[in-house]
Amino acid sequence: MHEGFTLWFTGLSGAGKSTLAQRIATHLRARDYKVEVLDGDEVRTNLSKGLGFSKEDRDTNIRRIGYVAKLLSRNGVVAITAAISPYREIRDEVRASIPNFVEVFVKCPLEELVRRDVKGLYKRALAGEIQGFTGVSDPYEEPLNPEVTVETDRETAEESTRKILRCLAAKGLIAETDLPPA
Ligand code: ADX
Repeated sequence: MHEGFTLWFTGLSGAGKSTLAQRIATHLRARDYKVEVLDGDEVRTNLSKGLGFSKEDRDTNIRRIGYVAKLLSRNGVVAITAAISPYREIRDEVRASIPNFVEVFVKCPLEELVRRDVKGLYKRALAGEIQGFTGVSDPYEEPLNPEVTVETDRETAEESTRKILRCLAAKGLIAETDLPPA
């Protein structure tokens, strides 16, 4: 059985967390890893249904995701999480509770996110129609020592995916032979 681990994506809405989480999941499943993706939007429709975006609710959301990721990864599953997880202290709390924890900072400048505005939420947040929107009117605390940083305004999704997989191989969490062909 492969060793489990938690791949924890953090970054602003629209930066590319879900896209990269899915790409990594697809790559590893094809190589016989058991993988579960805990995506922010999906978690909020079931596990965290009813929670809002106050600091307290976000912290609760992140602790729940961290708890499930811990259970999965200690049973040989690759748990991949993709929630904004804006607060450093809570991310570090989760990190401390999970033995194989790999944090990926999905970095992208706000101007680019506003330009992309996939869900149309930045426009509304900037117009003041959504209060407390992360990166606009609510804090986002960048990780100080993430295992990997990907810059989605400068790298292709393929490059970012490779970078993350290389980090996992360097840590011995996946086999070198499971890296994509050069
Ligand atoms: S977290 O802060 O608790 O980690 P999470 O990743 O679950 O956030 O949810 C973020 C998603 O909720 C965003 O991608 C966006 O679609 C939506 N959303 C709605 N309101 C907000 C808000 N005030 N701040 C950030 N995201 C919001």
